[in-house]
Amino acid sequence: MSHAPVVDVLKGQYEISTTVTVKGWVRTRRDSKAGLSFIALHDGSCFDPVQVIALNNLDNYADVQRLTAGCAVTATGTVKASEGKGQALEIEATAIEVNGWVENPDTYPMAAKRHSIEYLREHAHLRPRTNVIGAVARVRNCLSQAIHRFFHERGYFWISTPILTASDTEGAGEMFRVSTLDMMNLPRDDKGNVDYSEDFFGKETYLTVSGQLNVETYACALSKVYTFGPTFRAENSNTSRHLAEFWMIEPEVAFADLSDIAQLAEDMLKYVCKAVLEELPDDMAFFAQRINKDAISRLEQLVDSEFVRMDYTDAIEILQNCGKTFEFPVEWGVDLSSEHERYLAEEHVGAPIIMQNYPKDIKAFYMRINDDNKTVAAMDVLAPGIGEIIGGSQREERLDVFDRRLAEMGLSQEDYSWYRDLRRYGTVPHSGFGLGFERLVAYVTGMQNVRDVIPFPRTPGNAQY
Ligand code: 4AD
Repeated sequence: MSHAPVVDVLKGQYEISTTVTVKGWVRTRRDSKAGLSFIALHDGSCFDPVQVIALNNLDNYADVQRLTAGCAVTATGTVKASEGKGQALEIEATAIEVNGWVENPDTYPMAAKRHSIEYLREHAHLRPRTNVIGAVARVRNCLSQAIHRFFHERGYFWISTPILTASDTEGAGEMFRVSTLDMMNLPRDDKGNVDYSEDFFGKETYLTVSGQLNVETYACALSKVYTFGPTFRAENSNTSRHLAEFWMIEPEVAFADLSDIAQLAEDMLKYVCKAVLEELPDDMAFFAQRINKDAISRLEQLVDSEFVRMDYTDAIEILQNCGKTFEFPVEWGVDLSSEHERYLAEEHVGAPIIMQNYPKDIKAFYMRINDDNKTVAAMDVLAPGIGEIIGGSQREERLDVFDRRLAEMGLSQEDYSWYRDLRRYGTVPHSGFGLGFERLVAYVTGMQNVRDVIPFPRTPGNAQY
């Protein structure tokens, strides 16, 4: 690449008076009475654009004066100490080439003014050019790199689990069906059931809701593993925390119990938040200024404090005695709703909580039954402002207990035969969790809705682009 990323110019990697070429898109342009044009040029490599100064002795100065927000430009010039306030360095242009005009500035959807977040969502293909979505994209990238680094440094192996699957990991029936059959004219067997033998895979298949069951098989061979990939849920939840397609990080560890995995979750969250604070101070300063004034301080607090561990049973007591009226009444056995989770994390504790030992009836079939026979060794991490960001558990490794649980839940041993094999051949205690990546990005940036932290959100009624 013969040109310089804007970030390198602004960081002073090119000495004063050297010549550089930068390429990017115009954010703003203003002309001075003295016959100069100031162009703010961004290329996404950092939060700030670089200021390019064009003097009226450029051959194509008339073109420069027609530049509007969104035009693509190549600017060559000398690095100078800036005379204005703000940035320390700028570029005095010796040549400006216009690579792409904006055909009609009045119709350019990202013209330089503040747009509502809902408006930006309707222009998902152009919104990465804005300050806010550009900053989200850099934080998202930083978090995913940090997650891989965290696991790599601790000897975990990244396992690619399938996207097409026949298993409903969560048993919640919220799967998108994948079929090559003619849906209007489904083949049926003698009993009237759909005959999937003619389907591509010879059986009913879906988009995965979680890589967990598959990755457990690798944990029971390579000991410490994780998946990081897209997952899909056909739940009709039109909320600020639900997507039909989201990314999940799922570590799975052999010879580990619930407290080991809770500690892993805490260590990982601290590691990745620290990485964002260290690597992206400008983007985080923007979030603190525009999105949530505590964006930086609460991450610093998260990195420095110990997460509170709380038993579900104690949480129910706290909620019942807190004197607040909730929309969904609280009693032992109910699933915590987001208002409960938020009260506990935001008002009661004021920091992330690791909630443990939930009633077995509200949790998935694979979780390890506790000695009380009423609860399972499950844990959720609840973060202030967003609620649950992690769900995990110790897995049931005892074949007899597992089989009883399958029967209790009306699930067939045959459907889980390969998963049962892990319990038949060298079974070991093992545990893991799933971190919803978009919920993490929303938490870190302070963005209110997970639709704004994934490039192209998929929600009920929306799969455009
Ligand atoms: O609690 P969940 O359903 O757990 C599992 O899928 C386990 N198999 C994970 C494991 O133990 N390996 O989902 C895990 C996390 C949630 O805590 C939440 O952050 C996120 O995934 N999540 C969603 N994020 C966005 N949109 C949705 N519809 C989500 N559903 C779950």
